[in-house]
Amino acid sequence: MSFRKIFTPYIHEDKCHSLKFYQSKGGYEQARKALNDWQPDDLIETVKAANLRGRGGAGFPTGVKWGFVPKQVDKPKYLAVNADESEPGTFKDRLIMEKNPHLLLEGIIICCKAVGIHHAYIYIRGEFVFGANRLQNAIDRAYSEGILGENCLGSDFKLDVTVHRGAGAYICGEETGMLTSIEGDRGQPKLKPPFPAVEGLFGCPTVVNNVETLANLPYILEIGAEEYRKIGPENSPGPKLFCVSGHVEKPGVFELPMGVSLRTLIDEHAGGVWKGRKLKAVIPGGSSAHVLTADECDVAMDIESLAAAGTMLGSAGVIVMDETTCMVDALLNIMRFYHHESCGQCTPCREGTGWLEKIAHRIAVGGGRIEDLDLVTEVCDRMVGKTICALADAAAFPAESIVKKFREDFVAAIENGGSPAWVKRHPANTGGAAAHV
Ligand SMILES: Cc1cc2nc3c(=O)[nH]c(=O)nc-3n(C[C@H](O)[C@H](O)[C@H](O)COP(=O)(O)O)c2cc1C
Ligand code: SF4
Repeated sequence: MSFRKIFTPYIHEDKCHSLKFYQSKGGYEQARKALNDWQPDDLIETVKAANLRGRGGAGFPTGVKWGFVPKQVDKPKYLAVNADESEPGTFKDRLIMEKNPHLLLEGIIICCKAVGIHHAYIYIRGEFVFGANRLQNAIDRAYSEGILGENCLGSDFKLDVTVHRGAGAYICGEETGMLTSIEGDRGQPKLKPPFPAVEGLFGCPTVVNNVETLANLPYILEIGAEEYRKIGPENSPGPKLFCVSGHVEKPGVFELPMGVSLRTLIDEHAGGVWKGRKLKAVIPGGSSAHVLTADECDVAMDIESLAAAGTMLGSAGVIVMDETTCMVDALLNIMRFYHHESCGQCTPCREGTGWLEKIAHRIAVGGGRIEDLDLVTEVCDRMVGKTICALADAAAFPAESIVKKFREDFVAAIENGGSPAWVKRHPANTGGAAAHV
């Protein structure tokens, strides 16, 4: 079938975020049908059949996740919409919330009908002030038009939606950290099980879904599961938002079918590597993924293909680095982020991210030793899979792969008294003598 954009077709039009505009394009018709004509179990089965996979990073099948929520419970059930979008290189959910907020609200209504939820929280990162206001205005309009509230869209279904603003912590994007933050506590992840579907927000069954995941739902109901599965590869189908940043001519968000080639995404959609330079490295799934070399970029951007290439789709935040990039500096930049954002509960993460930053720093400023390269791998081995949440893995994956695939940059920095940028700024320090950290 021919590809039709669903998230971004009208983003250049003036009032694309308004309720009137959204309804003029058929908006809320699928939610109306879901509320009035569909049975909850049929909605869940349709989303399972569509093979919609989570767009927040882990790629878990959405319908399967909904199926884990107990049907008969004497507690409320909640939906927590993950709009934290704190993964470096990722800015797609922001676009949906700013330009197409009613699409998200329609997806929320469909999810809540399917699972029997009457209260949804949207957890939006603190820095998204404009997006939070847009969203709140859209919610207010939806209440005033009877789309949300006591009798949603003329049905007997009640749904409230609350926007909860974060305070700028990466770890509050991890689902249990986010739930703890909504509850008013420090946003720290919790051990699983229990999974949120069984024991989540306020101890009640909770669905956690990413903004883009939910924004797929009206389209799935509109065209049906079978047609949806034909968009891109069957195992991870659908329209997808790809964020491209870094050293390209035209950075931005691109809506394309899942499975587009990474090379095409960079060269055709993002205008190619900037300034006529050559490609050096790409991290395809936000900074938490394994790095790819320029030779490894003929890969399809979908969950299975990227996993087979030893990396991941993650949040589809594609970070492009040109031939002038020193990978020692890149590693230092990334590790500084993870060390700062570690919540500190688990020793391998708290100490490991600190060690990785320290090692990258000393190599960058000319105090590195060749043994440091094995030390990075050793530290990473002690982090992956050994902590409460996946932040430790998210730090270790780029670290181990950058050092392994770009070893020559590290050896040069160790032998030449620091990274090229450091040596240029501090020519007297070459040789590493004055660079201990
Ligand atoms: C450290 C860390 C940060 C995360 N940040 C986000 C985020 O900003 N947005 C998001 O949707 N998921 C994020 N996730 C993934 C969530 O934990 C969760 O898997 C996701 O929200 C589930 O939604 P989905 O199934 O629709 O993808 C993060 C995970 C980890 C470990
Ligand atoms: S892995 Fe890191 S961020 Fe996650 S809970 Fe442990 S210390 Fe906190």
